[in-house]
Amino acid sequence: MIDLKKVTYSYADHTALSEITMKIEQGESVALIGPNGSGKSTLMKVISGLIYPDRGTYVFDGTKITEKQMKEASFSKSFHKQTGFVFQNPDTQLFCGSVYEEIAFGPNQMGLSENEVRSRVSDSLELMGISGFEEREPYHLSGGEKKRVAIAATVALNPDVYLFDEPMNALDPKSKRFLRQFMIDLTQAGKTVICSTHDFSYVDGVFQRAAVFSEDHRLIRDDDYESVINDRAFLREQNII
Ligand SMILES: Nc1ncnc2c1ncn2[C@@H]1O[C@H](COP(=O)(O)OP(=O)(O)O)[C@@H](O)[C@H]1O
Ligand SMILES: [Mg+2]
Repeated sequence: MIDLKKVTYSYADHTALSEITMKIEQGESVALIGPNGSGKSTLMKVISGLIYPDRGTYVFDGTKITEKQMKEASFSKSFHKQTGFVFQNPDTQLFCGSVYEEIAFGPNQMGLSENEVRSRVSDSLELMGISGFEEREPYHLSGGEKKRVAIAATVALNPDVYLFDEPMNALDPKSKRFLRQFMIDLTQAGKTVICSTHDFSYVDGVFQRAAVFSEDHRLIRDDDYESVINDRAFLREQNII
């Protein structure tokens, strides 16, 4: 489903990804691990079509993702419906005056009926444990509540692929446990989960696979999650723990 071949990306002169080759199939759960600045967030931006490789190719479900391809409105709409990116900082994701509008935005963009939108909003809120938040202002919520709203906005699109960028950051233990269980539920529902993290104690049992990135922006290991996480010497050597 996700097929990256020698993907290289730079911000101006600054390399962020260097020749990344990896495939992710529908239903896989993959942790992206690596020191700060190794390229995890950039890779998720590539996968969700927010930026395009400078060199190498990214193919999603058989279609090469390029700027030109994404300019085709019908393609871009269906692509964005399939990939849900939950940003690291919910403040960059939330922009509406009420939680209802925030979560209804995506389904409205998809052209769903008023009734369908309303039921998606209420289902998503319920799933994230924030029913009754419809009229609240996103900016006045706590960090953990904002995160739940941002995730609910993604859930409302019902994407096949969920991308979480350091989702445990700034959450209290109860919210971390909730999110861990939510990610497990997603994989059990057959969703693809791609998640950058270094909060290993709260993601136990979520991932099948770990992709490890180095300080020089390369993919240096792509392996069974447990075997990576138990290789303490390797993780220390890579400045991950
Ligand atoms: N908007 C940006 N402009 C310039 N450089 C950036 C930008 N975002 C990230 N970088 C650089 O790209 C590299 C990879 O960053 P990032 O993907 O955010 O890493 P990670 O998520 O693993 O911490 C880093 O060296 C970072 O400084
Ligand atoms: Mg990052």
